[in-house]
Amino acid sequence: MTGARITAIGTYVPEKRLTNFDLERMVDTNNEWIIQRTGIEERRISRPDEYTSDLCVAAVKNLIQRFNKTVEDVDMVIVATSTPDFSFPSVSSLVQEQLHIAQTGAMDLSAACSGFVYALHTAHSMISSGLHGKILVIGADTMSKITDYTDRSTCILFGDGAGAVLIERDDQFNSFIGYHMGSDGSGAHHVYRANLANKVNDIELIDTRSLVQNGREVFRWVVRNIPNGIKEILNKTEMTIDEVDWFIPHSANLRIIEPICEKIGHPMEKTLYSLVNFGNTSAATIPLSLDLGIREGKVKNGDRILMYGFGAGLTHAGQLLRL
Ligand code: ACO
Repeated sequence: MTGARITAIGTYVPEKRLTNFDLERMVDTNNEWIIQRTGIEERRISRPDEYTSDLCVAAVKNLIQRFNKTVEDVDMVIVATSTPDFSFPSVSSLVQEQLHIAQTGAMDLSAACSGFVYALHTAHSMISSGLHGKILVIGADTMSKITDYTDRSTCILFGDGAGAVLIERDDQFNSFIGYHMGSDGSGAHHVYRANLANKVNDIELIDTRSLVQNGREVFRWVVRNIPNGIKEILNKTEMTIDEVDWFIPHSANLRIIEPICEKIGHPMEKTLYSLVNFGNTSAATIPLSLDLGIREGKVKNGDRILMYGFGAGLTHAGQLLRL
């Protein structure tokens, strides 16, 4: 089977910071509560005229500049997002146009906070089949555009950001060691943002404009199910958690990451997360966390990385990688 290698990464977050102290002035909350319940200190918020496609393009430009890569020969762009600029055209089509890479295929992938890992799996499958050679995978969201800033239970959580990786065919090296993914639609009503329908799982939607979340139910579901998904990957690849150099869970909330680490027996010191300064950026949290690890000199070539995304759907997706 043809190998696929992650060869470059780039990220972007908007300039504007929204701190816990700013939120204290907007809703009935306080810095201590937010830090204690989530670990989040601040988030980045896009300008009114800045959309998910703009964040994607900025992340790819960062990748090109840092890794001295060209994207003219990319043959597929996959954007994982829940906050596309439009229902259609897709964000990937807009990105393709702004990057002037007209010959490539372009598609969006909808799997909420698991989207980036689903997109990695899709790209790996396309390259290992021999049908594609060079794919841009981008996880990007502008959650601030669908957040109700009068709802203290959600507005403290979310931020905006984008992360892009380049995956290239490589006959000598394969980054992709193992995966596990799934979805539990019986919990689809626990976190949603309406589009055309006004009911989900026969339950009337509360708000049709903004993200709605039953945080406690999502929390319970994640802590019950994600450790099992991780164990599936380790069983399938006949590896132990001690052989994983870095764990990168979806950065929803520190209080959700800690029990996952405890259940799988992995130390927090070898866990990367981007939530402290960026909040929950949905499909962007995992590439942002990986990039923080690289920039801080923690993640090195050859390291084994276990990523695990979870979110609306309720979807989940994990990938064990070697850089
Ligand atoms: N400031 C102060 N008090 C607050 C705030 C706030 N910002 N928000 C809620 N509270 C209050 C509530 O009103 C409640 O008060 P009450 O007991 O008087 O009714 C109390 O705090 C506890 O509320 P809970 O919602 O039970 O708080 P919890 O400890 O569960 O924390 C949180 C809430 C942080 C949202 C948590 O449930 C969570 O992180 N859940 C997981 C979310 C997640 O992982 N989502 C991923 C998917 S997102 C996606 O896919 C787009």
